[in-house]
Amino acid sequence: MFKTRITEMLGIQYPILSGGMQWLSRAEFVAAVGNAGGIGFITAESFETPEDLRTEIKKMHTLTDKPFGVNISMVPEFGVPERSLQFCDVVVEEGVKVVETAGQSPKPLMPKLKDAGIKVIHKMTSIRHAESAQKLGVDAITLIGYGSGGHIGMDNVASFILIPMAVSRLDIPVVAGGGVCNGKGFLGAMAMGAEAVLMGTAFFATEECPVHDAIKQRLVQTRENETCLLLNSLQNPVRCVRNQLADECLALEEKNASFEEIINTVAGGKGKLAYDCGDAEISPIACGQIVGAIDEVKSVKAVIDDMIDEAGTMMARLNGMTK
Ligand SMILES: Cc1cc2nc3c(=O)[nH]c(=O)nc-3n(C[C@H](O)[C@H](O)[C@H](O)COP(=O)(O)O)c2cc1C
Repeated sequence: MFKTRITEMLGIQYPILSGGMQWLSRAEFVAAVGNAGGIGFITAESFETPEDLRTEIKKMHTLTDKPFGVNISMVPEFGVPERSLQFCDVVVEEGVKVVETAGQSPKPLMPKLKDAGIKVIHKMTSIRHAESAQKLGVDAITLIGYGSGGHIGMDNVASFILIPMAVSRLDIPVVAGGGVCNGKGFLGAMAMGAEAVLMGTAFFATEECPVHDAIKQRLVQTRENETCLLLNSLQNPVRCVRNQLADECLALEEKNASFEEIINTVAGGKGKLAYDCGDAEISPIACGQIVGAIDEVKSVKAVIDDMIDEAGTMMARLNGMTK
């Protein structure tokens, strides 16, 4: 039904990607996305060592024969850590076919990945970075708009602006990242010229996502105007649920607190702890504005099947308009 350069490149049924999510995008969950016809990315930064990533990749092969990728996120504040390059070595050695890079330019990783014939999809937030990434030789780009969950860059441009502009300016396929959770968003993105969509928040709130049910219920209750941007003062804004800890962090940023003070408030493994114990107040919980459109926790397969069904209905509606 939806054959694009991305479905062909990745060998997947539907042009639907599950963006890497630290602590969450682990083997069972990523396999669920692959088995439902999309593709997910094991997130390298969930693992203490590159060898732990290797074990997870090996586990993946026991769970599915469908395609999957690895996400290598580079935190701009810390430069390109040696460990990102070590993750690349593991990815190459384990025969992974596609890598999602994010956080900063994939340039240092490109020689290792391209020499091994690995497809690279770079995720970023601005057209100018997309053009640079294309010059570097990435195979596709994912553009993340202002309403997306997680790190959204400093440009503050909405997906509705970014996607059609990127499609006009680039030769490589464009993935519409963020702000999508159903067939309306999916078809809208495809109509703007995207060749796939990438979702985070919608998959975060699924049955298979390895997070305490109380966190999923918190997502269901959160409305589209109840997210906020943390770490603006560090020039690395991240969109999160507006909760108690977010308010504390925003107050610190308001009074120009130091890098250490801010980072100590939001980091330190609290995210993983909140995901495990279900206390949605003790950590920033990354999520996009599309959270407002999520009103139940479904299986990954139901999310994908419902999207494709609804996209068909919306397509028929559009066709009806032109008769
Ligand atoms: C809980 C959560 C954790 C995330 N962690 C990462 C990460 O570790 N690396 C990354 O590249 N993107 C991360 N993201 C961003 C997603 O991969 C994706 O780009 C984003 O969620 C898309 O926007 P949406 O939430 O509106 O669908 C995260 C998003 C969420 C919601």
